[in-house]
Amino acid sequence: MFIVIEGIDGTGKSTQARKLAEHFTADGREVVLSREPTDGPWGALLRNSAETGRLSPEEELETFLKDRRQHVEQLIAPALEAGKLVILDRYYFSTMAYQGARGFDPQKIREDNELFAPVPDILLILDLDVDTALTRIGSRGDTANEFEQRANLERCREIFLSVKDEPFARVIDATASAEDVAKAIIAALA
Ligand code: TYD
Repeated sequence: MFIVIEGIDGTGKSTQARKLAEHFTADGREVVLSREPTDGPWGALLRNSAETGRLSPEEELETFLKDRRQHVEQLIAPALEAGKLVILDRYYFSTMAYQGARGFDPQKIREDNELFAPVPDILLILDLDVDTALTRIGSRGDTANEFEQRANLERCREIFLSVKDEPFARVIDATASAEDVAKAIIAALA
């Protein structure tokens, strides 16, 4: 079983991924919890670029793909083959959303990724309006930069929701408390 959690910044993905991993571990399942960007060399480069200056759009897209290829080869595919439950905090739907918002065609990004990255069994899209998300991440949205960030997140949210009708996708309202969102996720999985 392969579960992916997606959504814009501030929706609580990391908290929910951890809670879900705890839930299944308590149930006696062997769980592998991971995230993208990864903690590997390409992931580290991407995280650093948030502080040292963003890569060019092409370089950034290319680096997310390199990071994911390595993640699939070294961790995701072997864990799934060994019958483990894999839970990911972000995956190629984030590339569709964020690099899509940067100008690339989300559908093309999806096709390129699905050539090497396994499609999840379940995609949980944590959905939250951008104002609430910005408040949660401590950014009120009244400077030029934050204004740009708001428009960008609106576009990302739209792209995430564009896959909501896939049979493996479930939209989860992320407005509620972490406990209630966790309950909604368990209910959706059941
Ligand atoms: P994030 O999960 O927010 O990491 P952290 O919690 O450590 O800040 O991911 C960092 C950023 O990377 C986030 O703003 C989304 C972006 N991102 C992409 O642009 N494309 C991708 O393919 C992925 C996986 C993430």
